[in-house]
Amino acid sequence: MNRRLIVLLFGLIIGVGIMLLVQTRMDAGPAYYSYGAASEDGIGKFYMGREISDLVNGHGAIAWLERQDRNETEKPEVLIRELQLKSDDVVADIGAGSGYFTFRIAPLIPKGRMIAVEIDDKMIGYLHDRKRQLSLSNVEIHKGDIENTGLPARSVDIAFMVDAYHEFSHPREMMESIVRALKPGGRVVLVEYEGEDPNNMVKRLHKMTVAQIRKEMEAVGLTWVRTSYDLPIQHITIFTKTDTQK
Ligand SMILES: C[S@@+](CC[C@H](N)C(=O)[O-])C[C@H]1O[C@@H](n2cnc3c(N)ncnc32)[C@H](O)[C@@H]1O
Repeated sequence: MNRRLIVLLFGLIIGVGIMLLVQTRMDAGPAYYSYGAASEDGIGKFYMGREISDLVNGHGAIAWLERQDRNETEKPEVLIRELQLKSDDVVADIGAGSGYFTFRIAPLIPKGRMIAVEIDDKMIGYLHDRKRQLSLSNVEIHKGDIENTGLPARSVDIAFMVDAYHEFSHPREMMESIVRALKPGGRVVLVEYEGEDPNNMVKRLHKMTVAQIRKEMEAVGLTWVRTSYDLPIQHITIFTKTDTQK
């Protein structure tokens, strides 16, 4: 074999090796996620010791979110009181679903803006219909994607998520995008079914403990403010973005 051929072959082998290495890194994804067998209500993707739950979208999801007994079991007025709204706040309901909270909060911030963020086209269609029916001019419906809300930097006073965060397939990226979208001093409010309560009948991966929530929020630089246990079967955990955070 002549020397040129040997050099060429050597170069080819090195090139293919580098390509394979890059491909493997891309397939593995970021180091903070790992993968394993999926549980009955999970997707087999793990973040900070928690398996991410499956989505509750699909047939009947809107009827489920708008169910009558939610007023009793989830006491929306208590949650809304905890938000301590100001009339000019910019509030983002992330994973808004049918807008159960969006349309209750919008009239309380007449000088502000209520942004419903969703990824699901069926929910987005329903949100537009409800906005038209209720003639609420301060409601904006915003399509995000699974990794990014797409909200402008430093534009939001309160980002809240009700029964939604545990379903985000890319929780780290979503939270980083939410932190970017918050104004300094802005708040993140997470409402989740109480994972600490073994008698809470909600499926295992559709609830979270406060310890887990704090771990995941503190990982993106948020500061815990307080947790309220005033709801019947959920807790409300509130965080803030410090003035120095980007
Ligand atoms: C169980 S529903 C809760 C809806 C609403 N927050 C409520 O309490 O009525 C969760 C919603 O989060 C949405 N969702 C999931 N991942 C999302 C993401 N990355 N960005 C925005 N919405 C998302 C789903 O499409 C679904 O409508």
